[in-house]
Amino acid sequence: MIMDKNDGIYEIKGGFNVLSEFYDSDELNFFLDSSKLMVNELKLSGVKSILDLATGTGHTAFELSKKYTDSKIIGIDISESMLKKAEMKKSKNSNIEFKIHDIEALEFLEYKYDLITCSFGTYFIKDTVRLFKNVLQKLNRNGSFVLTCFAEESFMPFSVEYFANLREKGIIQNYPKDFSSLNEKYVSDLVIAGFSNVKTIDKRMQYKIKKAEEWWTVIWGTGFRSFLEELDYEDLEQFKSYHLEKIDEMLKRGTDTYNLNILIMIGEVNPC
Ligand SMILES: C[S@@+](CC[C@H](N)C(=O)[O-])C[C@H]1O[C@@H](n2cnc3c(N)ncnc32)[C@H](O)[C@@H]1O
Repeated sequence: MIMDKNDGIYEIKGGFNVLSEFYDSDELNFFLDSSKLMVNELKLSGVKSILDLATGTGHTAFELSKKYTDSKIIGIDISESMLKKAEMKKSKNSNIEFKIHDIEALEFLEYKYDLITCSFGTYFIKDTVRLFKNVLQKLNRNGSFVLTCFAEESFMPFSVEYFANLREKGIIQNYPKDFSSLNEKYVSDLVIAGFSNVKTIDKRMQYKIKKAEEWWTVIWGTGFRSFLEELDYEDLEQFKSYHLEKIDEMLKRGTDTYNLNILIMIGEVNPC
């Protein structure tokens, strides 16, 4: 991805509207692959209504629509551009409807659903117990909530180099918490929120990159970019070229593959 000071991509906080431009790119294929894995794991029957939270460009919603052909699927997101992309991919008689809606305001949704899904949408939510409680309120009896998150060792070894470089340049002081501690919190938050039979399923994938720039697109399309939020344009460009040089060295040494592990969490409505 080429980044220019005036193209809006620089405004990290402006976020997802700009990101939608390359969200379906090859470098971020793991989002689609993860949705496929998640939907493939679902063994639910009698599902007539589905709500997909933080649907983005609709990866999970489209996979769900192939499996649950006679269900009504609603995908919600706060980013207009993401939803525009999703709309463009929709076929004429699609069973999916995309709507602008904040997942932190689920209480304002009118209906209840048999299944609620959320792929990589919890990272922007401070109070996940509150979110999960609201999800529970919007599920029918026998309903399920399925959440997909990155799992430990995802993006390694390139992420290790990324955080080391951020430290070398004084951009971060300490290494951030790894995915596993966040996932432990999500599992315990699901239980606190009142979900029953909470279980997790591990899936492991690997992705190859040919050029360091491809890794930069991964940084920019995920939460990794949040560490760059405070940099001005020149500092950001400097960091980018320093980091990508290090990634290039890794590629030359034959290290060209990163792990992409996901954890699929499933919680059920307590039938009592
Ligand atoms: C990492 S993307 C995941 C998109 C999609 N679920 C997928 O797997 O491809 C996160 C999405 O969360 C959306 N998002 C972030 N905060 C949100 C909120 N409060 N309400 C609704 N959507 C939100 C963003 O606009 C973005 O589309």
